[in-house]
Amino acid sequence: MAHRTLVLVALALAAHLDAIPRSLPRGALPRRQDTSTKIIGGHEAAEGQLPYQSRVGELPGEGVGEVGSTSVAAWSSHRTLCVTAAHCVEGGDPTSPSGLRVVAGGLDLGTLEASEQVGEINFIIEHPFYSPITFENDIALLRLETPLLYTESVGQLELPQPQQNFTGEVCRVSGWGQTSEGGTLSSILLYTDLPVLSDEMCEESYVQDELFPSMLCVGGAAAAGVGSCHGDSGGPLACGSVLTGLVSWGYGCARPEYPGVYTEVSYFVDWIASHTRR
Ligand SMILES: *[C@@H]1O[C@H](CO)[C@@H](O)[C@H](O)[C@H]1NC(C)=O
Repeated sequence: MAHRTLVLVALALAAHLDAIPRSLPRGALPRRQDTSTKIIGGHEAAEGQLPYQSRVGELPGEGVGEVGSTSVAAWSSHRTLCVTAAHCVEGGDPTSPSGLRVVAGGLDLGTLEASEQVGEINFIIEHPFYSPITFENDIALLRLETPLLYTESVGQLELPQPQQNFTGEVCRVSGWGQTSEGGTLSSILLYTDLPVLSDEMCEESYVQDELFPSMLCVGGAAAAGVGSCHGDSGGPLACGSVLTGLVSWGYGCARPEYPGVYTEVSYFVDWIASHTRR
C-alpha cells in the first residue's frame, strides 16, 4: 500500500514538473540568429501578415519579448485592449506594471522597426480565478494607456461568440518562442497552422491531468513536430479573424502524443466584456 502511494506520488511529481507553462523568466533574452530558424515547424511572418500579434516586453530593439499578446476588437472607447495569458503577468502589481509594454507591429526582436508601436500598459486585469496549479482561467487583459493606431502592420482580432466551437478548424498560432523543445528562441515572428482537436482527443492525451472545458487542444498526432513552445505563451491562436485560443501549457512541445493546450477564449467573452463596458 505504502509502496503504491509512493509510486503514484513520484509519477504525479514527474508529470507536474513536465507540465510547464509556455513563458520564460523575464530576462531570458532571445538572441538574434543568422540562420533562418523556425518556431517548431513554423514559417517566418511577412510584414502585415499577423498585424494582431504583439508582445509584452520592454522597449523595442532591446530583444525582450518573452510572451505574446493580441490586440482585440473589444474596446469601444479610446483605449486598446490586449489579451494574454494570466501566467505571463501573474503576481504583478496591476496598477504598476513595472516598465512592461505592449509592442505591436514588429517582426524582428533584434531591430527597432519603423512599423512598431509601443503601448504603455495602464492596467493589468488578471482573471480572478486563474490557477497557477492547473492553469485554469489562464487569461489576462492589458489595458493600454493610449490606443494603438491601426495600420498595415498593427491590427486586431475579433472575439469569438460565447461557446463558439472550433473543433476541426485549422487555425494559426504565432510567436517568438523556442524553435525546438529546450532550444533557442526565435528573433523573428513565426507562425504555423494546426487543427483544433475535440475535447475527447485532448482528454485521451492528458489522462493524468485535469483538463477544463475552458481549455482547448491543438496539434497532436496529425501535426507531429509542429507547434507552440516556451516563449510563445499568451500568444494568439487565430481561426480566420477570430481569437480562438491563447498559448497556455503542454508537456514538451510539438510532441505527437501531447497536443498543445490553449485557453479557450470563447469561454471568457462575457468576462472580457465586463471589463470593456466602461
Ligand atoms: C464541436 O463540433 C464538433 C465537430 O463538429 C462536434 O463533434 C462536437 O461535439 C462539438 N462540441 C461541442 C461542445 O458542441
